[in-house]
Amino acid sequence: MSEWIDACAVDDVEEEDLIRFDHEGRTFAIYRSHENAFYATDGLCTHEHVHLADGLVMDHIIECPKHNGRFDYRSGEARGAPACVKLKTYPVQVKSDRVLIDIA
Ligand code: FES
Repeated sequence: MSEWIDACAVDDVEEEDLIRFDHEGRTFAIYRSHENAFYATDGLCTHEHVHLADGLVMDHIIECPKHNGRFDYRSGEARGAPACVKLKTYPVQVKSDRVLIDIA
């Protein structure tokens, strides 16, 4: 079952960047790609639970600020050591300039 929640405004996220979004004790990361598409993942690195929102986005990769582990934020696949466990991803839709994510 879906559970869509309003995460932020479209303009809250710069292109080629991400923001942190906290909801009911959970942390997510919301990304806006250079093609202006939105994506969402868990907000914490799977290596040592560091906030990915403090990391760097390059193309479709988020680089963790702590040990530079990398993930493809579209699929959640780990793309660079020491990150080796996939990041959970969430469906996203944009409606009336709001970014909604399905956290179910
Ligand atoms: S905490 Fe993210 S790579 Fe180590």
